[in-house]
Amino acid sequence: MLFSPKVLAATGVLLSIASIGAAHPGEGHEKRMQEAANARMVAAVNARALEACNARPEVKARKQRAIARREGTFDRLRQKRGLKDESFIHRRDDAAFSKWAAVDHNKTGLLDFNENTPAEELFGSNTSCVLAPDNANGPYFVYQELIRQDVAEDLEGIPLHLEFQFIDVNTCEPADVLIDIWSCNSTGQYSGVSAEGQGGLDSTYLRGVQPTDAEGVVSFDTLFPGHYSGRASHQHIIVHVGSEILDNGTYTGGVVAHLSQLFFDQKLIDLIEQLAPYNTNQIAQTKNLEDAFAGYGATEEYDPFVNYIVLGSDVSSGLFAWAELGLNTSSNWDFYAPYASIWQPGGGSDNPNFNFSVVGTPPPTHG
Ligand SMILES: *[C@@H]1O[C@H](CO)[C@@H](O)[C@H](O)[C@H]1NC(C)=O
Ligand SMILES: *[C@@H]1O[C@H](CO)[C@@H](O)[C@H](O)[C@H]1NC(C)=O
Ligand SMILES: *[C@@H]1O[C@H](CO)[C@@H](O)[C@H](O)[C@H]1NC(C)=O
Ligand SMILES: *[C@@H]1O[C@H](CO)[C@@H](O)[C@H](O)[C@H]1NC(C)=O
Ligand SMILES: *[C@@H]1O[C@H](CO)[C@@H](O)[C@H](O)[C@H]1NC(C)=O
Ligand SMILES: *[C@@H]1O[C@H](CO)[C@@H](O)[C@H](O)[C@H]1NC(C)=O
Repeated sequence: MLFSPKVLAATGVLLSIASIGAAHPGEGHEKRMQEAANARMVAAVNARALEACNARPEVKARKQRAIARREGTFDRLRQKRGLKDESFIHRRDDAAFSKWAAVDHNKTGLLDFNENTPAEELFGSNTSCVLAPDNANGPYFVYQELIRQDVAEDLEGIPLHLEFQFIDVNTCEPADVLIDIWSCNSTGQYSGVSAEGQGGLDSTYLRGVQPTDAEGVVSFDTLFPGHYSGRASHQHIIVHVGSEILDNGTYTGGVVAHLSQLFFDQKLIDLIEQLAPYNTNQIAQTKNLEDAFAGYGATEEYDPFVNYIVLGSDVSSGLFAWAELGLNTSSNWDFYAPYASIWQPGGGSDNPNFNFSVVGTPPPTHG
């Protein structure tokens, strides 16, 4: 999402959202209060959910299957890219945002692993029954995007294979939902929207929708996102519950039950930003710890950074990244997920009822 003066001018809307005010000391208070309130609510839900979930044999079995699946995916991606015999590097995820950021950067970082590293250590995860906090939707959600796995459209950038697993915290079972993803391209522009400086209504790159499978899993082939003014590199996700898949390869209806943004290790971002075409972007980078929206994404239990493995010996070979997200399929956050435009063959159109004033406000998830 973008809050550059350009966009604000283009839309003619003045933002009065406290959360954008990280740079303005006086306005940070409300944001911190909301983050704290959100974190408390999420923690209460998580304590219940974890207790109800973790001991269950079917949950343990699902974790083992996830490990095996990710191991298989990693091998398959390396094979496909002809990297079978190359060594690889990995960031392992250990345990609110700066806590996760500090763990990632200072302790774990990019580690060298060899092929004998136990699969559990590489591909395990502890967050499957943990409610992922919602974040602000941003101004560039496009409704009725294409149902497709590969959203890269031959654009230039670092290939990123994403695998997300969604668990309903009410039941601890895999969620039967539609997952909508979008991100900016390697030089920081979004497709599908008419806002000045973006890709325009007739573009669809780096956007797509997938139904979860029986394990609650979706995967996408996309590109590592670039950056733009005021935001750290991030990946948007929306979860639709009860949508209908249409014959023409899109969907309709349903309710938005979750909206969030996932983040990437700063070291990884810094590495990728040195490479073309990312390095042609003249806009100053915003670091994870400077991002005004990052704090909404994390709780004590929930790590909003994706786990990842570089497929080969350097990042240009591409990445496999994964995350597990707990969600409440009974939530209805439609109000907080307005769409800027709607995709249609031959070019989308602007949403006449787009409520821009909520794009920077995360739902009160959590309460
Ligand atoms: C470790 O993390 C702290 C807190 O986020 C930060 O101030 C410090 O610069 C980091 N050190 C390194 C070497 O990354
Ligand atoms: C999951 O949690 C257990 C117990 O705290 C820990 O031993 C294990 O390393 C964690 N696994 C991952 C992948 O973080
Ligand atoms: C899920 O959301 C519904 C509707 O807001 C709420 O009644 C229920 O308690 C939530 N479940 C959990 C586990 O928080
Ligand atoms: C990113 O998108 C913008 C707008 O569509 C386009 O002008 C630019 O060339 C794209 N960048 C790359 C690296 O493809
Ligand atoms: C698919 O069909 C729906 C419902 O008729 C329509 O609104 C939408 O524009 C169509 N999308 C595409 C990509 O054909
Ligand atoms: C847009 O959102 C604001 C809250 O930020 C709300 O007060 C207003 O009623 C909404 N407008 C519409 C048309 O829903």
